[in-house]
Amino acid sequence: MRVSLFLASIAGAATAVASTNDECPGYTATNVNQQGSTLTADLTLAGDHCDSYGTDLENLKLLVEYQTDDRLHVMIYDADEEVYQVPESVVPRPNSRGDHDQETSNLRFDYEPEPFSFRVLRNDQVLFDTSDTNIIFQSQYLNLRTWLPKDPNLYGLGEHIDTLRMPTKNYTRTLWNRDAYGVPEHTNLYGAHPVYVDHRGDAGAHGVFFLNSNGMDIKIDVDDEGRQYLEYNTLGGVLDFYFIAGPSPKEVSKQYAEVVGRPAMQSYWTFGFHNCRYGYQDVYDVAEAVYNYSRAHIPLETMWTDIDYMSGRRVFTLDDERFPLGKVRELVRHLHQKHQHYIVMVDPAVSDSDNDAFHRGEEEGIFLYRDDELYRGGVWPGVTVYPDWFNPDTQGYWNSEFKEFFSSHDGVDIDGLWIDMNEAANFCPWPCEDPEQYAKVNDLPPAPPAVRSPPRPIPGFPADFQPPKSHRRSDNKRRSDDGGKKAGLPGRDLINPPYQIANAAGSISNKTIDTDLVHAGKGYVEYDTHNLYGTMMSSASREAMLHRRPGKRPLVITRSTFAGAGAHVGHWLGDNLSQWDKYRSSIAQMLAFASIFQVPMVGSDVCGFGGNTTEELCARWAMLGGFYPFYRNHNEITSIPQEFYRWPSVAEAARKIIDIRYRLLDYLYTAFHRQTLTGEPFLQPLFYVYPGDHQTFSNDLQFFYGDSILVSPVTDQGKTSVDAYFPDDLFYDWFTGKKVDGHGKVQRLDRISTTDIPIHIRGGSILPLRSKSAMTTTELRRRGFEIVVAPSRDGYAHGELYLDDGESLKPASSSLVLFEYHEDKLTIRGEFGYQANVVIESVTVLGQTEGGRRKRETFTGGSFNTTQESVTKQVHIVLDGPAVVEF
Ligand code: GLC
Repeated sequence: MRVSLFLASIAGAATAVASTNDECPGYTATNVNQQGSTLTADLTLAGDHCDSYGTDLENLKLLVEYQTDDRLHVMIYDADEEVYQVPESVVPRPNSRGDHDQETSNLRFDYEPEPFSFRVLRNDQVLFDTSDTNIIFQSQYLNLRTWLPKDPNLYGLGEHIDTLRMPTKNYTRTLWNRDAYGVPEHTNLYGAHPVYVDHRGDAGAHGVFFLNSNGMDIKIDVDDEGRQYLEYNTLGGVLDFYFIAGPSPKEVSKQYAEVVGRPAMQSYWTFGFHNCRYGYQDVYDVAEAVYNYSRAHIPLETMWTDIDYMSGRRVFTLDDERFPLGKVRELVRHLHQKHQHYIVMVDPAVSDSDNDAFHRGEEEGIFLYRDDELYRGGVWPGVTVYPDWFNPDTQGYWNSEFKEFFSSHDGVDIDGLWIDMNEAANFCPWPCEDPEQYAKVNDLPPAPPAVRSPPRPIPGFPADFQPPKSHRRSDNKRRSDDGGKKAGLPGRDLINPPYQIANAAGSISNKTIDTDLVHAGKGYVEYDTHNLYGTMMSSASREAMLHRRPGKRPLVITRSTFAGAGAHVGHWLGDNLSQWDKYRSSIAQMLAFASIFQVPMVGSDVCGFGGNTTEELCARWAMLGGFYPFYRNHNEITSIPQEFYRWPSVAEAARKIIDIRYRLLDYLYTAFHRQTLTGEPFLQPLFYVYPGDHQTFSNDLQFFYGDSILVSPVTDQGKTSVDAYFPDDLFYDWFTGKKVDGHGKVQRLDRISTTDIPIHIRGGSILPLRSKSAMTTTELRRRGFEIVVAPSRDGYAHGELYLDDGESLKPASSSLVLFEYHEDKLTIRGEFGYQANVVIESVTVLGQTEGGRRKRETFTGGSFNTTQESVTKQVHIVLDGPAVVEF
């Protein structure tokens, strides 16, 4: 029966298949040995080879470890340990205490010796069950299928732009990192996160992480007998699973963070608003945008520059006409004086023309080679070579390029970093014979006009901050003088493996670096490690940034990621389009990264990257983006400019939402910090907060910003209403303070103009708001606090506030202030290490009416706000010790 399925899946495969998976004999378990919390066994091929997509490995080993009460590690690997395994240097393994008591575990491993299959149970509930199909472990193909309950709620398996709750019929998730312009649905995108959450409502949620970096198709479907399954079809590596017990979705996230690493904490300023555009003509154009933001009174925290600053788009170079060093340094000085920040892009591929970064890299031998020849591809600057992150010398090279080029003394003094094209992208299709032909240098932005529109000079910049009279387009052409364990099984077809995954780029080597390249050091092949390239560049770049500013949290935003990347970097969602469906799907994509993959510093290009945005879409997106952890407007060189000041309504939307975002910034910072300590996701789908409520399971258009704020954006063009779902709970309208009683129903929210977005505070919350917003986050940190109490139905509320210096990797001091409210009394306690030098200026309690009538006639020292139905008390509480506020 499964024959047809598999024949369908290999349609177009390059190599004829000797037999079908159905005929594969599976394995027999012998020498089962249980010692403490570890079980081992030998697995031997139980019959004749089927060799469906490679050669069956005859001798395998099973390792089962009860690692914690909530984590079970199951690994099936080759007895000779020749098969590639994800290097621990890239994805460190969680600590595994060999002495963990299996009796207390919430998970149980169960197996059948012949043919070997296994099950994972939580109490009596079967979470994972491989019986019924034989495990296949071949030189170029692994196959393992688990049965699942009917119509499961499955989330994860990124990167994709499909619904947050994935389809369960005829659905394939392909994981093979790819430069995916336009982020099409149902295709593999930039990153690989082979982890899913299976949420079974009241029966609980659990997670399954498949630690494997090879290309794979994960098929989710129903078999001919109507049974639901999920099946891994993988091009190599070993079967390495981490089962995590939950049982709440939040617990799953926390337990997953223990496996792949908790996310990196970000600096306070990084949560400010960022602006970027591909195609700024020169440094003056960039300065003008900075000026225009301030003129429009839209707080711009960080200005970015794309590859436009480079000479001929070569990394570690500056275009001396458009971006002369002196002027770039002046721009950065200007930004820094105003407490703003500057970020530029770095691509991994280094132009092979005559430039220092190339010569130094070549001398140090840190690029990828084919035999003894440099391997060449084609990216922005033309013909390029690629750093080999496995080469032990590459980190030193990267550090020194950064130290020199980004020197704060005499280089481009950046505050953060943007890394891109690291899937790795190659415009040259496989086989790449003439990379020159794919150079994109000819798409340079149009020459800046000889006479610039006023204002000139740019206010706030020195009079000579102007292009020289002779300013003209630099020539686009390349200059004429341009010039342990085993690393993996031998004998494989590394270019055209017999099993073909559904890579949207076709062959696995197409539009990337060749998969048969061998890395330095241990000799891993790109075939096995392709999905790690971006993550390795990420950690190397983080390290290089740390060298520049030791002790400060580096902000690195990357395009390509692998499981665990969040421990080093943040991620933007790549080249989306200025379309309503991309605006909508950014929510699901962001939620998956933030809550499941543990990459919480995430956001999409606000207003859209490709194509032209519209005033309406951009205004709506400005509002939605106000709730992305990483909030950046960015678009493409061929699209119309879309800075927020370009349209009155967009400017108004931006001012309004940045005001709200900034007042909430410490709330965001506190929750984000918590995630870096515990993995508890700051941004959450509704089902994370209401795991028992079935109506939340498919909702991916609303979300929780922290535990306390429900965001329900308008998601359709031309609409001014949203049908928002309110779980059975009490909420308060952010703007009016009015109570909204949830009852688990959809409510239509009307009259939402493009400068509005419905926001509700969940009953039971206490929000530490800055009393007033500011033009920069530096200024914001000098504002006092307004504490807003939103009592639950039974009159309780709590919240917290984390404070530190906002930028140190290891802050010298910090505070964690805990707020509790009950019976007209707010109690403030906690740890008070950090001197914030600001006070709590007021406390507001919402919901102070009953049946439309004011709840109490007198409030000691408080003033009643009739429209808001709230009571506010002015206070002066220094954040250096416990306090009580009574109403
Ligand atoms: C890639 C990036 C995009 C950037 C462009 C030019 O397409 O995803 O954000 O603007 O390259 O560097």
